[in-house]
Formats: sequence, C-alpha cells, structure tokens
Amino acid sequence: MTTSNPLAKFDIAPEDIDRLVAAFYARIRAHPTLGPVFARAIAAEDGPEWRAHERKIAAFWRNAIGIERGAYDGNPMRVHVANPDVHPGMFSTWLALFRETAEEVLAPHQARAIAALADKIGESMRYGVTQRGQVKGAPPVLR
Ligand code: HEM
Repeated sequence: MTTSNPLAKFDIAPEDIDRLVAAFYARIRAHPTLGPVFARAIAAEDGPEWRAHERKIAAFWRNAIGIERGAYDGNPMRVHVANPDVHPGMFSTWLALFRETAEEVLAPHQARAIAALADKIGESMRYGVTQRGQVKGAPPVLR
C-alpha cells in the first residue's frame, strides 16, 4: 500500500509501521539488556501498558516520517535523558535490533529509510543521554 501524503519522507503505510512496531517491541521484551529497561518503565508485560506504548511509538513514527503530522507531540529526548536506566552504550544495540527487524518486516527501501531516520534520531538522543550529569571539563561516560 502507498501513502497519499506527498510530503512524507518515504512511502510507507500506517499498517506497515504497526507491524514493525509490534515485531520490534516483541524483540525488545525478549532482549537480555534492553528488555529489563522497558519492563521497569512499562509495568505489565504484554498487558495494556505495552499496547499503549506501541500505539504511542507508532504515532511517533507516523509523525516523524511525515505521513501524519501532529500524530505525536511528546518529547522523547526528555523521556530518555530522565530515565537513569538508559545508557549511551545501549543505543547501538537498540538501533541494530531496529534495523534488523525493519529489514525482515518491510520492503528493502522502507527498511533502509526508516533505519536511517532511527540512526539520526538515536544519535542525537545518545548525545543527550551522554551529556546527562556531565561534569564540566570531565571526560564523558560513554557506557
Ligand atoms: C538506548 C536505547 C533506548 C532505550 C533503552 C529506550 C527505552 C525507552 C523507555 C524505557 C521508554 C519509556 C516507555 C514508556 O513508558 O512508554 C521509551 C520511550 C520512547 N522511546 Fe525509547 N529507548 C531507546 C531508544 C529510542 C530511540 C532510538 C527512539 C527513536 C528513534 C526511541 C523512541 C521512543 C519514544 C518515541 C518513546 C515515547 C516517549 C514518550 O513518552 O512520549 N527510543 N524508550
């Protein structure tokens, strides 16, 4: 299916995003280091809280890709910087898992485009998380 929004960054349907988000967070839940971070933030596994999280994340992507501007109006940077369980070293793992899932679930051009967008957003979030609690002049803690 194609999107009708000519301003979108690339061609993807909301249903494709939903499939990607469901597959990705199923893997996140099972992941040895990332799973527990989400389990602490989202109370019940596979319960209504996870569905609410997935709905919010799907809206985030529709907004970020430009197929539905205004679908999401949160502040992910603030959420990740405020969560002491989120460490800079986790971003490469998250992004690799996201790319791998996108390649399995989406068409190749969609997977490439959404993974590149995630890399860009993830890199700036990683920077924000690295700056958290940074003592002026001291070397950053990158783990
Ligand atoms: C180190 C890697 C990451 C970890 C451990 C992580 C973990 C989390 C956790 C625990 C939450 C809160 C869940 C909730 O209560 O709903 C969250 C929310 C969120 N994450 Fe991440 N995340 C990571 C990377 C990313 C990246 C790279 C993106 C985007 C490309 C992203 C997008 C979001 C969004 C949009 C939310 C919802 C924020 C809101 O409440 O409005 N995350 N993340």
